[in-house]
Amino acid sequence: MKKIAIYGAGGFGREVKMLIDQINETKSKYSQWDFKGYYDDGMEKGRMVNGFPVLGGAEDLNSIEEPMALLVAIGNPKVKKSIIEKISNNNISYPVLIHPNVQIGTDEVKIGEGTIICAGCIITVNISIGKHVILNLGCTIGHDTIIGDYCSFMPAINISGEVTIYEGVYCGTGAKIINQATVGAGTVIGMGAVVTKSLPEGCTAVGMPAQPVKFHNTVPAGNKVESKNTITQQ
Ligand SMILES: CC(C)(COP(=O)(O)OP(=O)(O)OC[C@H]1O[C@@H](n2cnc3c(N)ncnc32)[C@H](O)[C@@H]1OP(=O)(O)O)[C@@H](O)C(=O)NCCC(=O)NCCS
Repeated sequence: MKKIAIYGAGGFGREVKMLIDQINETKSKYSQWDFKGYYDDGMEKGRMVNGFPVLGGAEDLNSIEEPMALLVAIGNPKVKKSIIEKISNNNISYPVLIHPNVQIGTDEVKIGEGTIICAGCIITVNISIGKHVILNLGCTIGHDTIIGDYCSFMPAINISGEVTIYEGVYCGTGAKIINQATVGAGTVIGMGAVVTKSLPEGCTAVGMPAQPVKFHNTVPAGNKVESKNTITQQ
């Protein structure tokens, strides 16, 4: 069994622990995780979370001397990226974690390291998903869509076909994105928003049709997904 830990002992971190349990319960070739505990800079070391210890913060991950898989269970894309950038230990690896009931097309779907795909998601064909992306419960992604690194999608989001979403986009529960739209880097889409036109980078957009209501000072570099990413549940 491979050792695994979760960064982030909040609500989503505990849900990712549930996802690990569910993968282990399938007793498939992927059921190999030995969950060691949580890392979280906002909680004291040694505290117990649902029976598992907080083992330290991001810096403690840099002193681990044996191989450990890590999932970063943080919804805020900027915070998620900053934590990953603090970790510089070659013993840490980032698996792709996919709930057993997720439906993924067999044709040209690519998924980057550290991406977490929760129960009930449906991902069809010719889709690129970057690294450290979260697809929370029950999201659907249509054909020919590209999703950049560090994006976070809350439950029940529907992304139509040929959508391009740049790095670090946060999308609230139940949002919908029309086909062929582009969402700029670092944009926040509110819960329940209906995106009927492309959105610029670095804004917060809400409502139906979604309209920008705020512009942020900083936006990420805005990469697209690299084509070398491949789907590998580890
Ligand atoms: C969009 C969001 C991120 C905005 O947060 P914020 O930057 O703190 O912005 P504010 O709360 O100041 O809202 C700005 C304006 O947009 C409105 N607004 C906020 N969220 C909205 C939404 N989802 N739909 C419609 N209007 C919304 C606010 O009422 C406010 O309007 P006002 O200026 O007329 O008062 C947040 O409201 C949201 O929807 N988050 C997603 C939550 C979610 O999905 N959680 C999942 C957990 S699993």
